[in-house]
Amino acid sequence: MTGDTVLVTGAGGLIGGRVARRLVERGHRVRATTRDASKRSAETRDLEWVTCDLSDPPPNGKLFQGVDRAFLLCPDEAGDPYPVLGALVEAAARSGVGGVVMMTGMGPDRGPTSRFRLAERELQGSGRAYSILRPNWFMQTFHTFWRDELVRDGRLRLPMGTASVSYVDARDVAGCAAALLARDALEGRIFTLTGAEALDHDEAVSRISAAAERPLEYEAVEADAFSEHLRESGVTSEEIGLLAGLFEDIREGHLSPVTNDVAALLGVPPRAFSAYAAGHREYWRGDGRPSA
Ligand SMILES: NC(=O)c1ccc[n+]([C@@H]2O[C@H](COP(=O)([O-])OP(=O)(O)OC[C@H]3O[C@@H](n4cnc5c(N)ncnc54)[C@H](OP(=O)(O)O)[C@@H]3O)[C@@H](O)[C@H]2O)c1
Repeated sequence: MTGDTVLVTGAGGLIGGRVARRLVERGHRVRATTRDASKRSAETRDLEWVTCDLSDPPPNGKLFQGVDRAFLLCPDEAGDPYPVLGALVEAAARSGVGGVVMMTGMGPDRGPTSRFRLAERELQGSGRAYSILRPNWFMQTFHTFWRDELVRDGRLRLPMGTASVSYVDARDVAGCAAALLARDALEGRIFTLTGAEALDHDEAVSRISAAAERPLEYEAVEADAFSEHLRESGVTSEEIGLLAGLFEDIREGHLSPVTNDVAALLGVPPRAFSAYAAGHREYWRGDGRPSA
C-alpha cells in the first residue's frame, strides 16, 4: 500500500534497481540494500540505502525494522541462494514483516535450482504472507553476458543445441514484483514468468542481427568444448559445473514452456524479444550503452 516501507534487496542490480524505482514512483518508501551505501546514496537520493553483505548471514537485525513488505533475491555474487534467502526469511519473520515477495528462478527441481526450492520452502513455512516469482532467463542476458562476443566475433557460441527458451524481459519481471508488493494481500502463489514465445538461438540472434542491421550468428557448440573454453578463460570449476547444469536444463527443453503469468500480473502482454533487440540497436552495433 502507498506509504508503506518496502525492503528491496539487490537494489543496485538489474531487477532490484527497477523494483525500487517503480515502488518509489508508486509512493512507497524503499529501504535498499547494497554493499556500499555511501556510493549508492551519491547516485540516488530517493532510496534509503543500507550497507549489507548478503553473503555473510545472519543479516543485521535492524535491516527489517519498520519494514512492511520485503522483496528478496539472492545476487549471483552472494553465492548459494539457500542460506542467503533462508537467513533473510528468518530475519523478516523475527521482525514481523507483513509480506514477502521472493524471486528465485524457473527450472526443474534439481541441480542449482533445487537450492532455490529449499529457500522457497523456508518462506512457505515462515508464517509470512508471500508470493514467489520464478522468472525464466532474462532477455538482458544477451547484452549483460553475451554482447561483447557478439559484437567482436559476429557470432555467439553456446552449448544450447537447437533448444528454445521463453526469455523474459527483466523490466517485466521487475514490474510483476512491484505490482505484487503494492497489492493489499499476497496470496501464497507461485508465478512462473516467461516471455510470450520460446525462441531457439538461431532465431534469437537473427532478431538481434535484424535490429543491428549487421550479420550476427549463433553457433551451437558441444557442452564439453564449451566447459574447456571457460576453464581456459579462468572460470572456476564450481562455476563451470553450475553453468553446465543450467545449459543442460535448456537443452532438455525445461526452459521452453510459455506461461500467462506476466500478462496476468501486469494486465498487458509481456515485452517481445524483437522489441528488446530493437531497443538496443546502437549497442549491438558496437557503441552506446544499454538503456534497459
Ligand atoms: N540472469 C538471469 O537470466 C536470471 C534468470 C532467472 C533468475 N535469476 C536470478 O536473479 C538473481 C539475480 O538478480 P539480478 O541480476 O537483478 O541481481 P545481481 O545483478 O546478481 O545483483 C544485484 C546487486 O546485488 C548487489 N550485490 C552483489 N553481491 C552482493 C552481496 N554479497 N551482498 C549484498 N549485495 C550484493 C550488487 O549491488 P551493489 O554493488 O550495490 O552491492 C548487485 O548489483 C539471481 O538469484 C539469479 O539466479 C537470474
